Amino acid sequence: MLKMTIYVILIIIIGAILIGVFHLYRVSKKNEVEMAQYEGEVIVPKKLSGKTLVIYYSLTGHTKEIAEKIQKMTHADLYEIKTVEKLNTVPWFYLILKKQLKDKIYPELAGDMPDLTKYDTIFVGGPVWWYTVSTPMRAFLEKIDFQNKKVVPFSTQGSNFGTYFEYFAQEAKNANLQKSASFNNLPAKYNKAVDNKIATWINSL
Ligand SMILES: Cc1cc2nc3c(=O)[nH]c(=O)nc-3n(C[C@H](O)[C@H](O)[C@H](O)COP(=O)(O)O)c2cc1C
Repeated sequence: MLKMTIYVILIIIIGAILIGVFHLYRVSKKNEVEMAQYEGEVIVPKKLSGKTLVIYYSLTGHTKEIAEKIQKMTHADLYEIKTVEKLNTVPWFYLILKKQLKDKIYPELAGDMPDLTKYDTIFVGGPVWWYTVSTPMRAFLEKIDFQNKKVVPFSTQGSNFGTYFEYFAQEAKNANLQKSASFNNLPAKYNKAVDNKIATWINSL
């Protein structure tokens, strides 16, 4: 009986690993196809009219990286959404965050809200958590009024942004929403292609 249980557990573990490996393989192939269109000549981003602000939340640095690229290309100011308490990253924190999303428990934000009055275009980006907008970004959206400014949403994710942009559009008060973009986490070899993807997106605004 004990032997049987061990076999079943082993089969489940091996099955889960195989599914995981297959998923990663499919995602990397999809990324390869998507980014191939951005290889080649450097695309120069156009100058956006007026002043630009890039607002972002980032727990593990991916959104920060994209936000900083956008900031450089648009000569924008940068505003980071921060939480009063650092979100801890115990192994089961994925499940804690899932429950907080379900129960609408959002963290307290640190610092003053940004003054949007002097900006014409505002990029707003954050990570995808459980196929939707993260709890700190939700807390931010609850507090901010976009004053009919041009708002350009973006997300970063492993592979699937789910309903991120629907939620964002629903909750971004008085936002004049512009074309959004989403960025999968990619290895460094795609760095230049990511720059071109951002420049192409800016040029489409
Ligand atoms: C709690 C949690 C849930 C996540 N859910 C998703 C998801 O549903 N889809 C996805 O593609 N990536 C998901 N991810 C991966 C993040 O979206 C991705 O790593 C993102 O780029 C992290 O951004 P950051 O480094 O700026 O925090 C999740 C990450 C965390 C921590």
